[in-house]
Amino acid sequence: MDIVFNLEVAMRVNGKIAIITGAGAGIGEAAARLLVREGAKVVVADRDGDLAKAVAADLGPAAIAVRADVSRAEDVKAMVDLASGEFGRIDILVNNAGFGIRGNVVATAEGDWDAVMAVNVKGVYLCSKYAIPVMAAQGGGSIVNTASNVAAVGLADRAAYVASKGAVAALTRSMAIDHAAEQIRVNSIAPGPTRSTYFDRMIAAHDDPAGFVAGLSARSPMNRMGTPAEIANVILWLASDEASFVTGAMYVVDGGAIAW
Ligand SMILES: NC(=O)c1ccc[n+]([C@@H]2O[C@H](COP(=O)([O-])OP(=O)(O)OC[C@H]3O[C@@H](n4cnc5c(N)ncnc54)[C@H](O)[C@@H]3O)[C@@H](O)[C@H]2O)c1
Repeated sequence: MDIVFNLEVAMRVNGKIAIITGAGAGIGEAAARLLVREGAKVVVADRDGDLAKAVAADLGPAAIAVRADVSRAEDVKAMVDLASGEFGRIDILVNNAGFGIRGNVVATAEGDWDAVMAVNVKGVYLCSKYAIPVMAAQGGGSIVNTASNVAAVGLADRAAYVASKGAVAALTRSMAIDHAAEQIRVNSIAPGPTRSTYFDRMIAAHDDPAGFVAGLSARSPMNRMGTPAEIANVILWLASDEASFVTGAMYVVDGGAIAW
C-alpha cells in the first residue's frame, strides 16, 4: 500500500482575527508573531505605540498596530472598534498586558496598588467587556488571559502583583461560566519566570546577573527560565479550535515550578 504524506501542514488559527494586548514586547510580542505565522490577522496593541508599530511593521499586512492603554476605557473601545472595523470580527482576545511591583502590603503605596490593579485586573475586565459583545454577535470566540503561576502559590514581596494575578484566574473562571452559552471560551495561562523584555531588563540591571538567573531557574525542576515562545505556544493552543472543549481552565507553564 502506498503511504501518501501530506506535506502541507494546516495553519492552526487560519483566517482568525486576534487582538493581543501588551504585544509590543515579551510574551505578547511572541504570541503576535506565532499567531500571524499560524494564519491569523493580529491587532498588536500596546500602551507604547512605537513598540506596537515596530512589531506590526515587521509582521507585515497581517498585523495592525494600535496604541492602547488597557486601563483606559476610551482606549479599549477604540481598539475594539478598530479591530472589528478593519477586519469585521474578533475571534481571539489575548489579555496579556500587565506588570508587577515589589513590596509587601505595608510597603506598597496605595497609588502603586491601584496602578497594578488598574492594568492587570481592570484591563482584563475592560477589554473583555467591549470585545465579548462582538464575539457573541458573530457566534463565538476565545479569550486567553495571562495570569501567572503566583495565582496558585504565594510569592514573597509581591503583594499587589500576586493579588492581581489571583484575580485574573478567578475572573477567567467567572467569565467562562457567563459566556459559555455564547460559544466564548475563556482560559488563563500561568507562566513562571520567563525571559521576556521585562526580565531581560531586570537581569541586565542586577548586581549579579548570572546569580539572579540561577536563582530564578532553580525555582523549577527543569532548572531554567521559560522563553516567551514557549508561553506563546500554549496561548496559541488555547486560542485555537484544537482547545474546543477547554474553558475556565488555568494552564500552568512554568517548567514544573509549582509542582514541587
Ligand atoms: N515574564 C514573566 O516571567 C511572567 C511570568 C508570569 C506572568 N507574566 C505576565 O505576562 C504578561 C506579559 O509580561 P512580559 O513579561 O512579557 O512583560 P514585558 O514588560 O516584556 O511586556 C509587556 C508589554 O505590555 C505593555 N503594557 C504594559 N502595561 C500596559 C497597558 N496598561 N496597556 C497596554 N500595554 C501595556 C508594555 O508596554 C510591554 O510592551 C504580564 O501580564 C505579566 O504579568 C510574566
